[in-house]
Amino acid sequence: MLARRLRPSAARWSQQCSQQWARAYSAQAAKGSPDIDPSALTVEKTSSPKALLDSKDLIFGRNFTDHMLSIEWTAQDGWLPPRITPYQNLSLDPSACVFHYAFTCFEGMKAYKDSKDRVRLFRPDRNMHRLNRSSSRIALPTFSGEKFTELIQKFVKMEERFIPKQKGYSLYIRPTIIGTQNTLGIGPPGSALLYVIASPVGPYYPTGFKAISLEATESAVRAWPGGVGDRKLGANYAPCIVPQMDAAKRGYQQNLWLFGEEGYVTEVGTMNMFVAWVNEDGVKELITAPLDGTILEGVTRESILELAREKLVPEGWKVSEQKFTMAQMKKAADEGRLLEAFGAGTAAVVSPVKAITWRGEEIKIPLSPGKETGPLAESFWNWMLAIQYGEVEHPWSKVLSE
Ligand code: COI
Repeated sequence: MLARRLRPSAARWSQQCSQQWARAYSAQAAKGSPDIDPSALTVEKTSSPKALLDSKDLIFGRNFTDHMLSIEWTAQDGWLPPRITPYQNLSLDPSACVFHYAFTCFEGMKAYKDSKDRVRLFRPDRNMHRLNRSSSRIALPTFSGEKFTELIQKFVKMEERFIPKQKGYSLYIRPTIIGTQNTLGIGPPGSALLYVIASPVGPYYPTGFKAISLEATESAVRAWPGGVGDRKLGANYAPCIVPQMDAAKRGYQQNLWLFGEEGYVTEVGTMNMFVAWVNEDGVKELITAPLDGTILEGVTRESILELAREKLVPEGWKVSEQKFTMAQMKKAADEGRLLEAFGAGTAAVVSPVKAITWRGEEIKIPLSPGKETGPLAESFWNWMLAIQYGEVEHPWSKVLSE
């Protein structure tokens, strides 16, 4: 259908491309496509280990550990043997498709040190599930999440000395997949690289919570129905920077992403957005946008919803994944029904919001007296950290074997 609407030369080109893809994929099918094989891992240790930084000097994502984990993939041979090597530059041809057509997606996850000095990961299965969904959406390969997690565990154990011990500190782990095929032709990459780097990080708010002010963005949208807003693609992040810079110029720490003429509240900066209010029926409700394809399937979002259903519902709260609008938020604020708002993501865990400016008007959001957070955001922060640092045993927190 599409080819018929194109100019004849473009149609021919498109046909040639699909023939090439078919050939690449039938070669892959003929050979089978081996999955990631942790038993084939080779390890080359660095000869120049880095000095550890003082925890107070850690800046998010600026410093990296000694090593990296890499696994190459080709359409012909599937996943090649995994390698842990010294942290190093990548060498890619300038024509590599990642540079031109944004064949890249990533994850953000963290490793924690508990009070018994054991290393823990938080819900790695959720990150693996999402990375596979992101990768497959941009014609990059998929893999066994369990096998890749096994390798991440080995890598994290090797880098254990970089995991800060204090609560609130962790090792931020960044798995990334890129298309590496050298071509300006557009098609599914015939080769890819899955790699993992890690960065010791401190709490997002080293001095305790710092509630943020938001500007609701109406000049741009982050995601749209049928788009890719629910996948962690690099291409979803770069276009969001200018609207964030515009909000910052006007003194706001983050922007609030809206959608449609209705002004649906979707996400805040790179986080999922939660609002607590007394709804029109007089019921206390924690609400966040539904996973309709425009919302990132946040691991923190999912965890907060599960915790809320376990801990708040018995206290009479309603927990909703439903569309809601700025106009509803403003009405709730005007009627004294707006209780709280916060962002949720791996990096900050929860990020309390104190005000939203929308169409030139500021909507104030209550905080606990004398604090930079509301009570719900504080409770979720405490519940999440207790699980992440193993203060309470919970199936979400995986202790790495010695
Ligand atoms: C998060 O909040 O966890 C994020 O996704 C931020 C990351 C892109 C730095």
